[in-house]
Amino acid sequence: MKTTHKIIQGDALKVLKTIPDNSVDLVFADPPYNMSKKKGLNWAYSKHVTMQESWDMFSKDDFFKFNNGWLAECFRILKHGGSLWISGSFHNIYQMGFIIQQFHPEIKINNSIVWFKPNAQPNITCRFFTESTEHLIWATKNGDGKKWKFNYQWTKDHITDPINPIGKQTRNVWSIPLTPKSEKWAGAHPTQKPFELLKRIILSSTNEGDLVLDPFVGSGTTSAVAKYYGRNSIGIELSDKYIGIIKKRLQENQKTLSGSQTEITIEKFKD
Ligand SMILES: C[S@@+](CC[C@H](N)C(=O)[O-])C[C@H]1O[C@@H](n2cnc3c(N)ncnc32)[C@H](O)[C@@H]1O
Repeated sequence: MKTTHKIIQGDALKVLKTIPDNSVDLVFADPPYNMSKKKGLNWAYSKHVTMQESWDMFSKDDFFKFNNGWLAECFRILKHGGSLWISGSFHNIYQMGFIIQQFHPEIKINNSIVWFKPNAQPNITCRFFTESTEHLIWATKNGDGKKWKFNYQWTKDHITDPINPIGKQTRNVWSIPLTPKSEKWAGAHPTQKPFELLKRIILSSTNEGDLVLDPFVGSGTTSAVAKYYGRNSIGIELSDKYIGIIKKRLQENQKTLSGSQTEITIEKFKD
């Protein structure tokens, strides 16, 4: 089997409009959380995690408009029976839930997952509880007689961590350490997700040969995991800075689980 992996450098809001309706099996989105300092909501609960990324700064109204826009496009391109996973923190996750429940009655939220980080950074201000979780929404588009995929047996047989013993039903609390240095060999991205997190998401809700799309692919984790496990992928990323990291992760690490062939293309989006 051969899989294809396309990276498109451009603004997700524009690129998504060029993707056909009902064509993607899984969207994983790790969007800007709007937690960077300077502008916007100005959340800063720990100096260690304070970010100053221009792509992560919005006014309150712009942030709502942005989230509304990309979510609507993602639901449009999702196949019936497809899944959309969103990761976030308290800064943005409630807004995503509100948008889905208020404006997308056709979408069903199946679960929210709490990702517990056992080695989270300490809170040096000592004025808050230590943030040690992120939150994920698993939503599905069910229609045309099709319902979501859930590879239940795989989750039972393969997911294991200090909260989830192997062979038991997997709980909606996952214990996964912060992205290890060994996964950051291709360069630094401030919010690179662990391979294990994407592995659980992709393998529980897609089959081999399915198409996975990530509108905010960052350092390319979603594409790298999709490639390794025999799924096709499309990744969209705005910043020039991260395209080099993605290129290295996809091109230099040719290994796939089944040894299957892969084709990788990286292109700039033209308006
Ligand atoms: C939270 S990070 C994603 C990290 C990714 N999950 C990983 O494992 O590396 C969000 C990414 O979205 C990109 N981004 C922000 N706004 C964007 C937009 N409008 N279109 C495409 N990418 C965007 C940022 O450059 C950043 O790399």
